[in-house]
Amino acid sequence: MSIGKKARAAFLADVIDGLSAKPRTLPCKYFYDARGSELFEAICECPEYYLTRADLALHEQHLGEIGERVGPGAHVIEFGSGAGIKTRKLLAGLERPRAYTPIEISAAALKVSARQLASDFPDIEIRPLQADYTRDIDAERLQLDPPSRRRVVYFPGSTIGNFDHAEAIEFLRRMGRIARAGGAILIGVDLMKPESQLVAAYDDAAGITADFNLNLLVRMRNELDAELDVDAFAHEARFNREENRIEMHLVATRDTVIGLDGQRFEFAAGDGIHTESSHKYSVDDFRALAARAGLASRHVWKDPAGLFSMHWLEQAEP
Ligand code: AVJ
Repeated sequence: MSIGKKARAAFLADVIDGLSAKPRTLPCKYFYDARGSELFEAICECPEYYLTRADLALHEQHLGEIGERVGPGAHVIEFGSGAGIKTRKLLAGLERPRAYTPIEISAAALKVSARQLASDFPDIEIRPLQADYTRDIDAERLQLDPPSRRRVVYFPGSTIGNFDHAEAIEFLRRMGRIARAGGAILIGVDLMKPESQLVAAYDDAAGITADFNLNLLVRMRNELDAELDVDAFAHEARFNREENRIEMHLVATRDTVIGLDGQRFEFAAGDGIHTESSHKYSVDDFRALAARAGLASRHVWKDPAGLFSMHWLEQAEP
């Protein structure tokens, strides 16, 4: 398997931690190896998975207004590789954007998208930054523009939903620091909707989300030499009403054991591993969350069907 020594050690440590915890968990960031990223693309095509289409429709409908808020000559900083069609739409809709910095952990993904963007947008400085955006970004590496330059931190797709509330607040604070005074954050947030619609979106009939979830076990087997039976687990999507979130779990369908690094993790039938949370917010809920990070939501756009939202956040007045 093409995984570096350090990456393998980090993956192993995280899996051991997660399987030792009660309840058991695995970090959702490990979904996205090459196969997982392909499966995610396929999820976005599923009729039940409304998020990506709604996010795109929102971009299409409100690009003019978004561009007005961003203003001329901005530096757009995206948390993510910028390989998506939304980034292209945004950059094409802005007035003379000066620079674009995608921040992405995968050097390979970053390289491909940066090269493509540089050839499509010759007038924009493309400054790829290889880093884990869930950790602190080295401010030095972003200080290439004058303090007067308007920075807009762009985080589409509702990945913010994967964080619990405390983490989301910390993360929003960090984005606020990167945007600096006078800057802004443009962030996609999936909206609350009926439980049945959410469960269907995270448990599609074609079983692609199931494969996406089970791929974590495949990675553990292939990359960490875990002894496990992928067939002994099933995908489950559950709505957690107290927390307003959809959760994905891997649930043992019979008694089984995962052997890893000399340890044995036993599962009785019905025991699960919590692999992902995707929090859903009303406009007001997200406004309140942002306020706790010192940010004010100055505008909210929705797609025509009202499924998905995008907030424009600025530093709140102290
Ligand atoms: C990419 C984080 C927005 O939470 O909806 C899709 C990932 N998980 N289906 C989401 C995901 C299951 C997705 N995000």
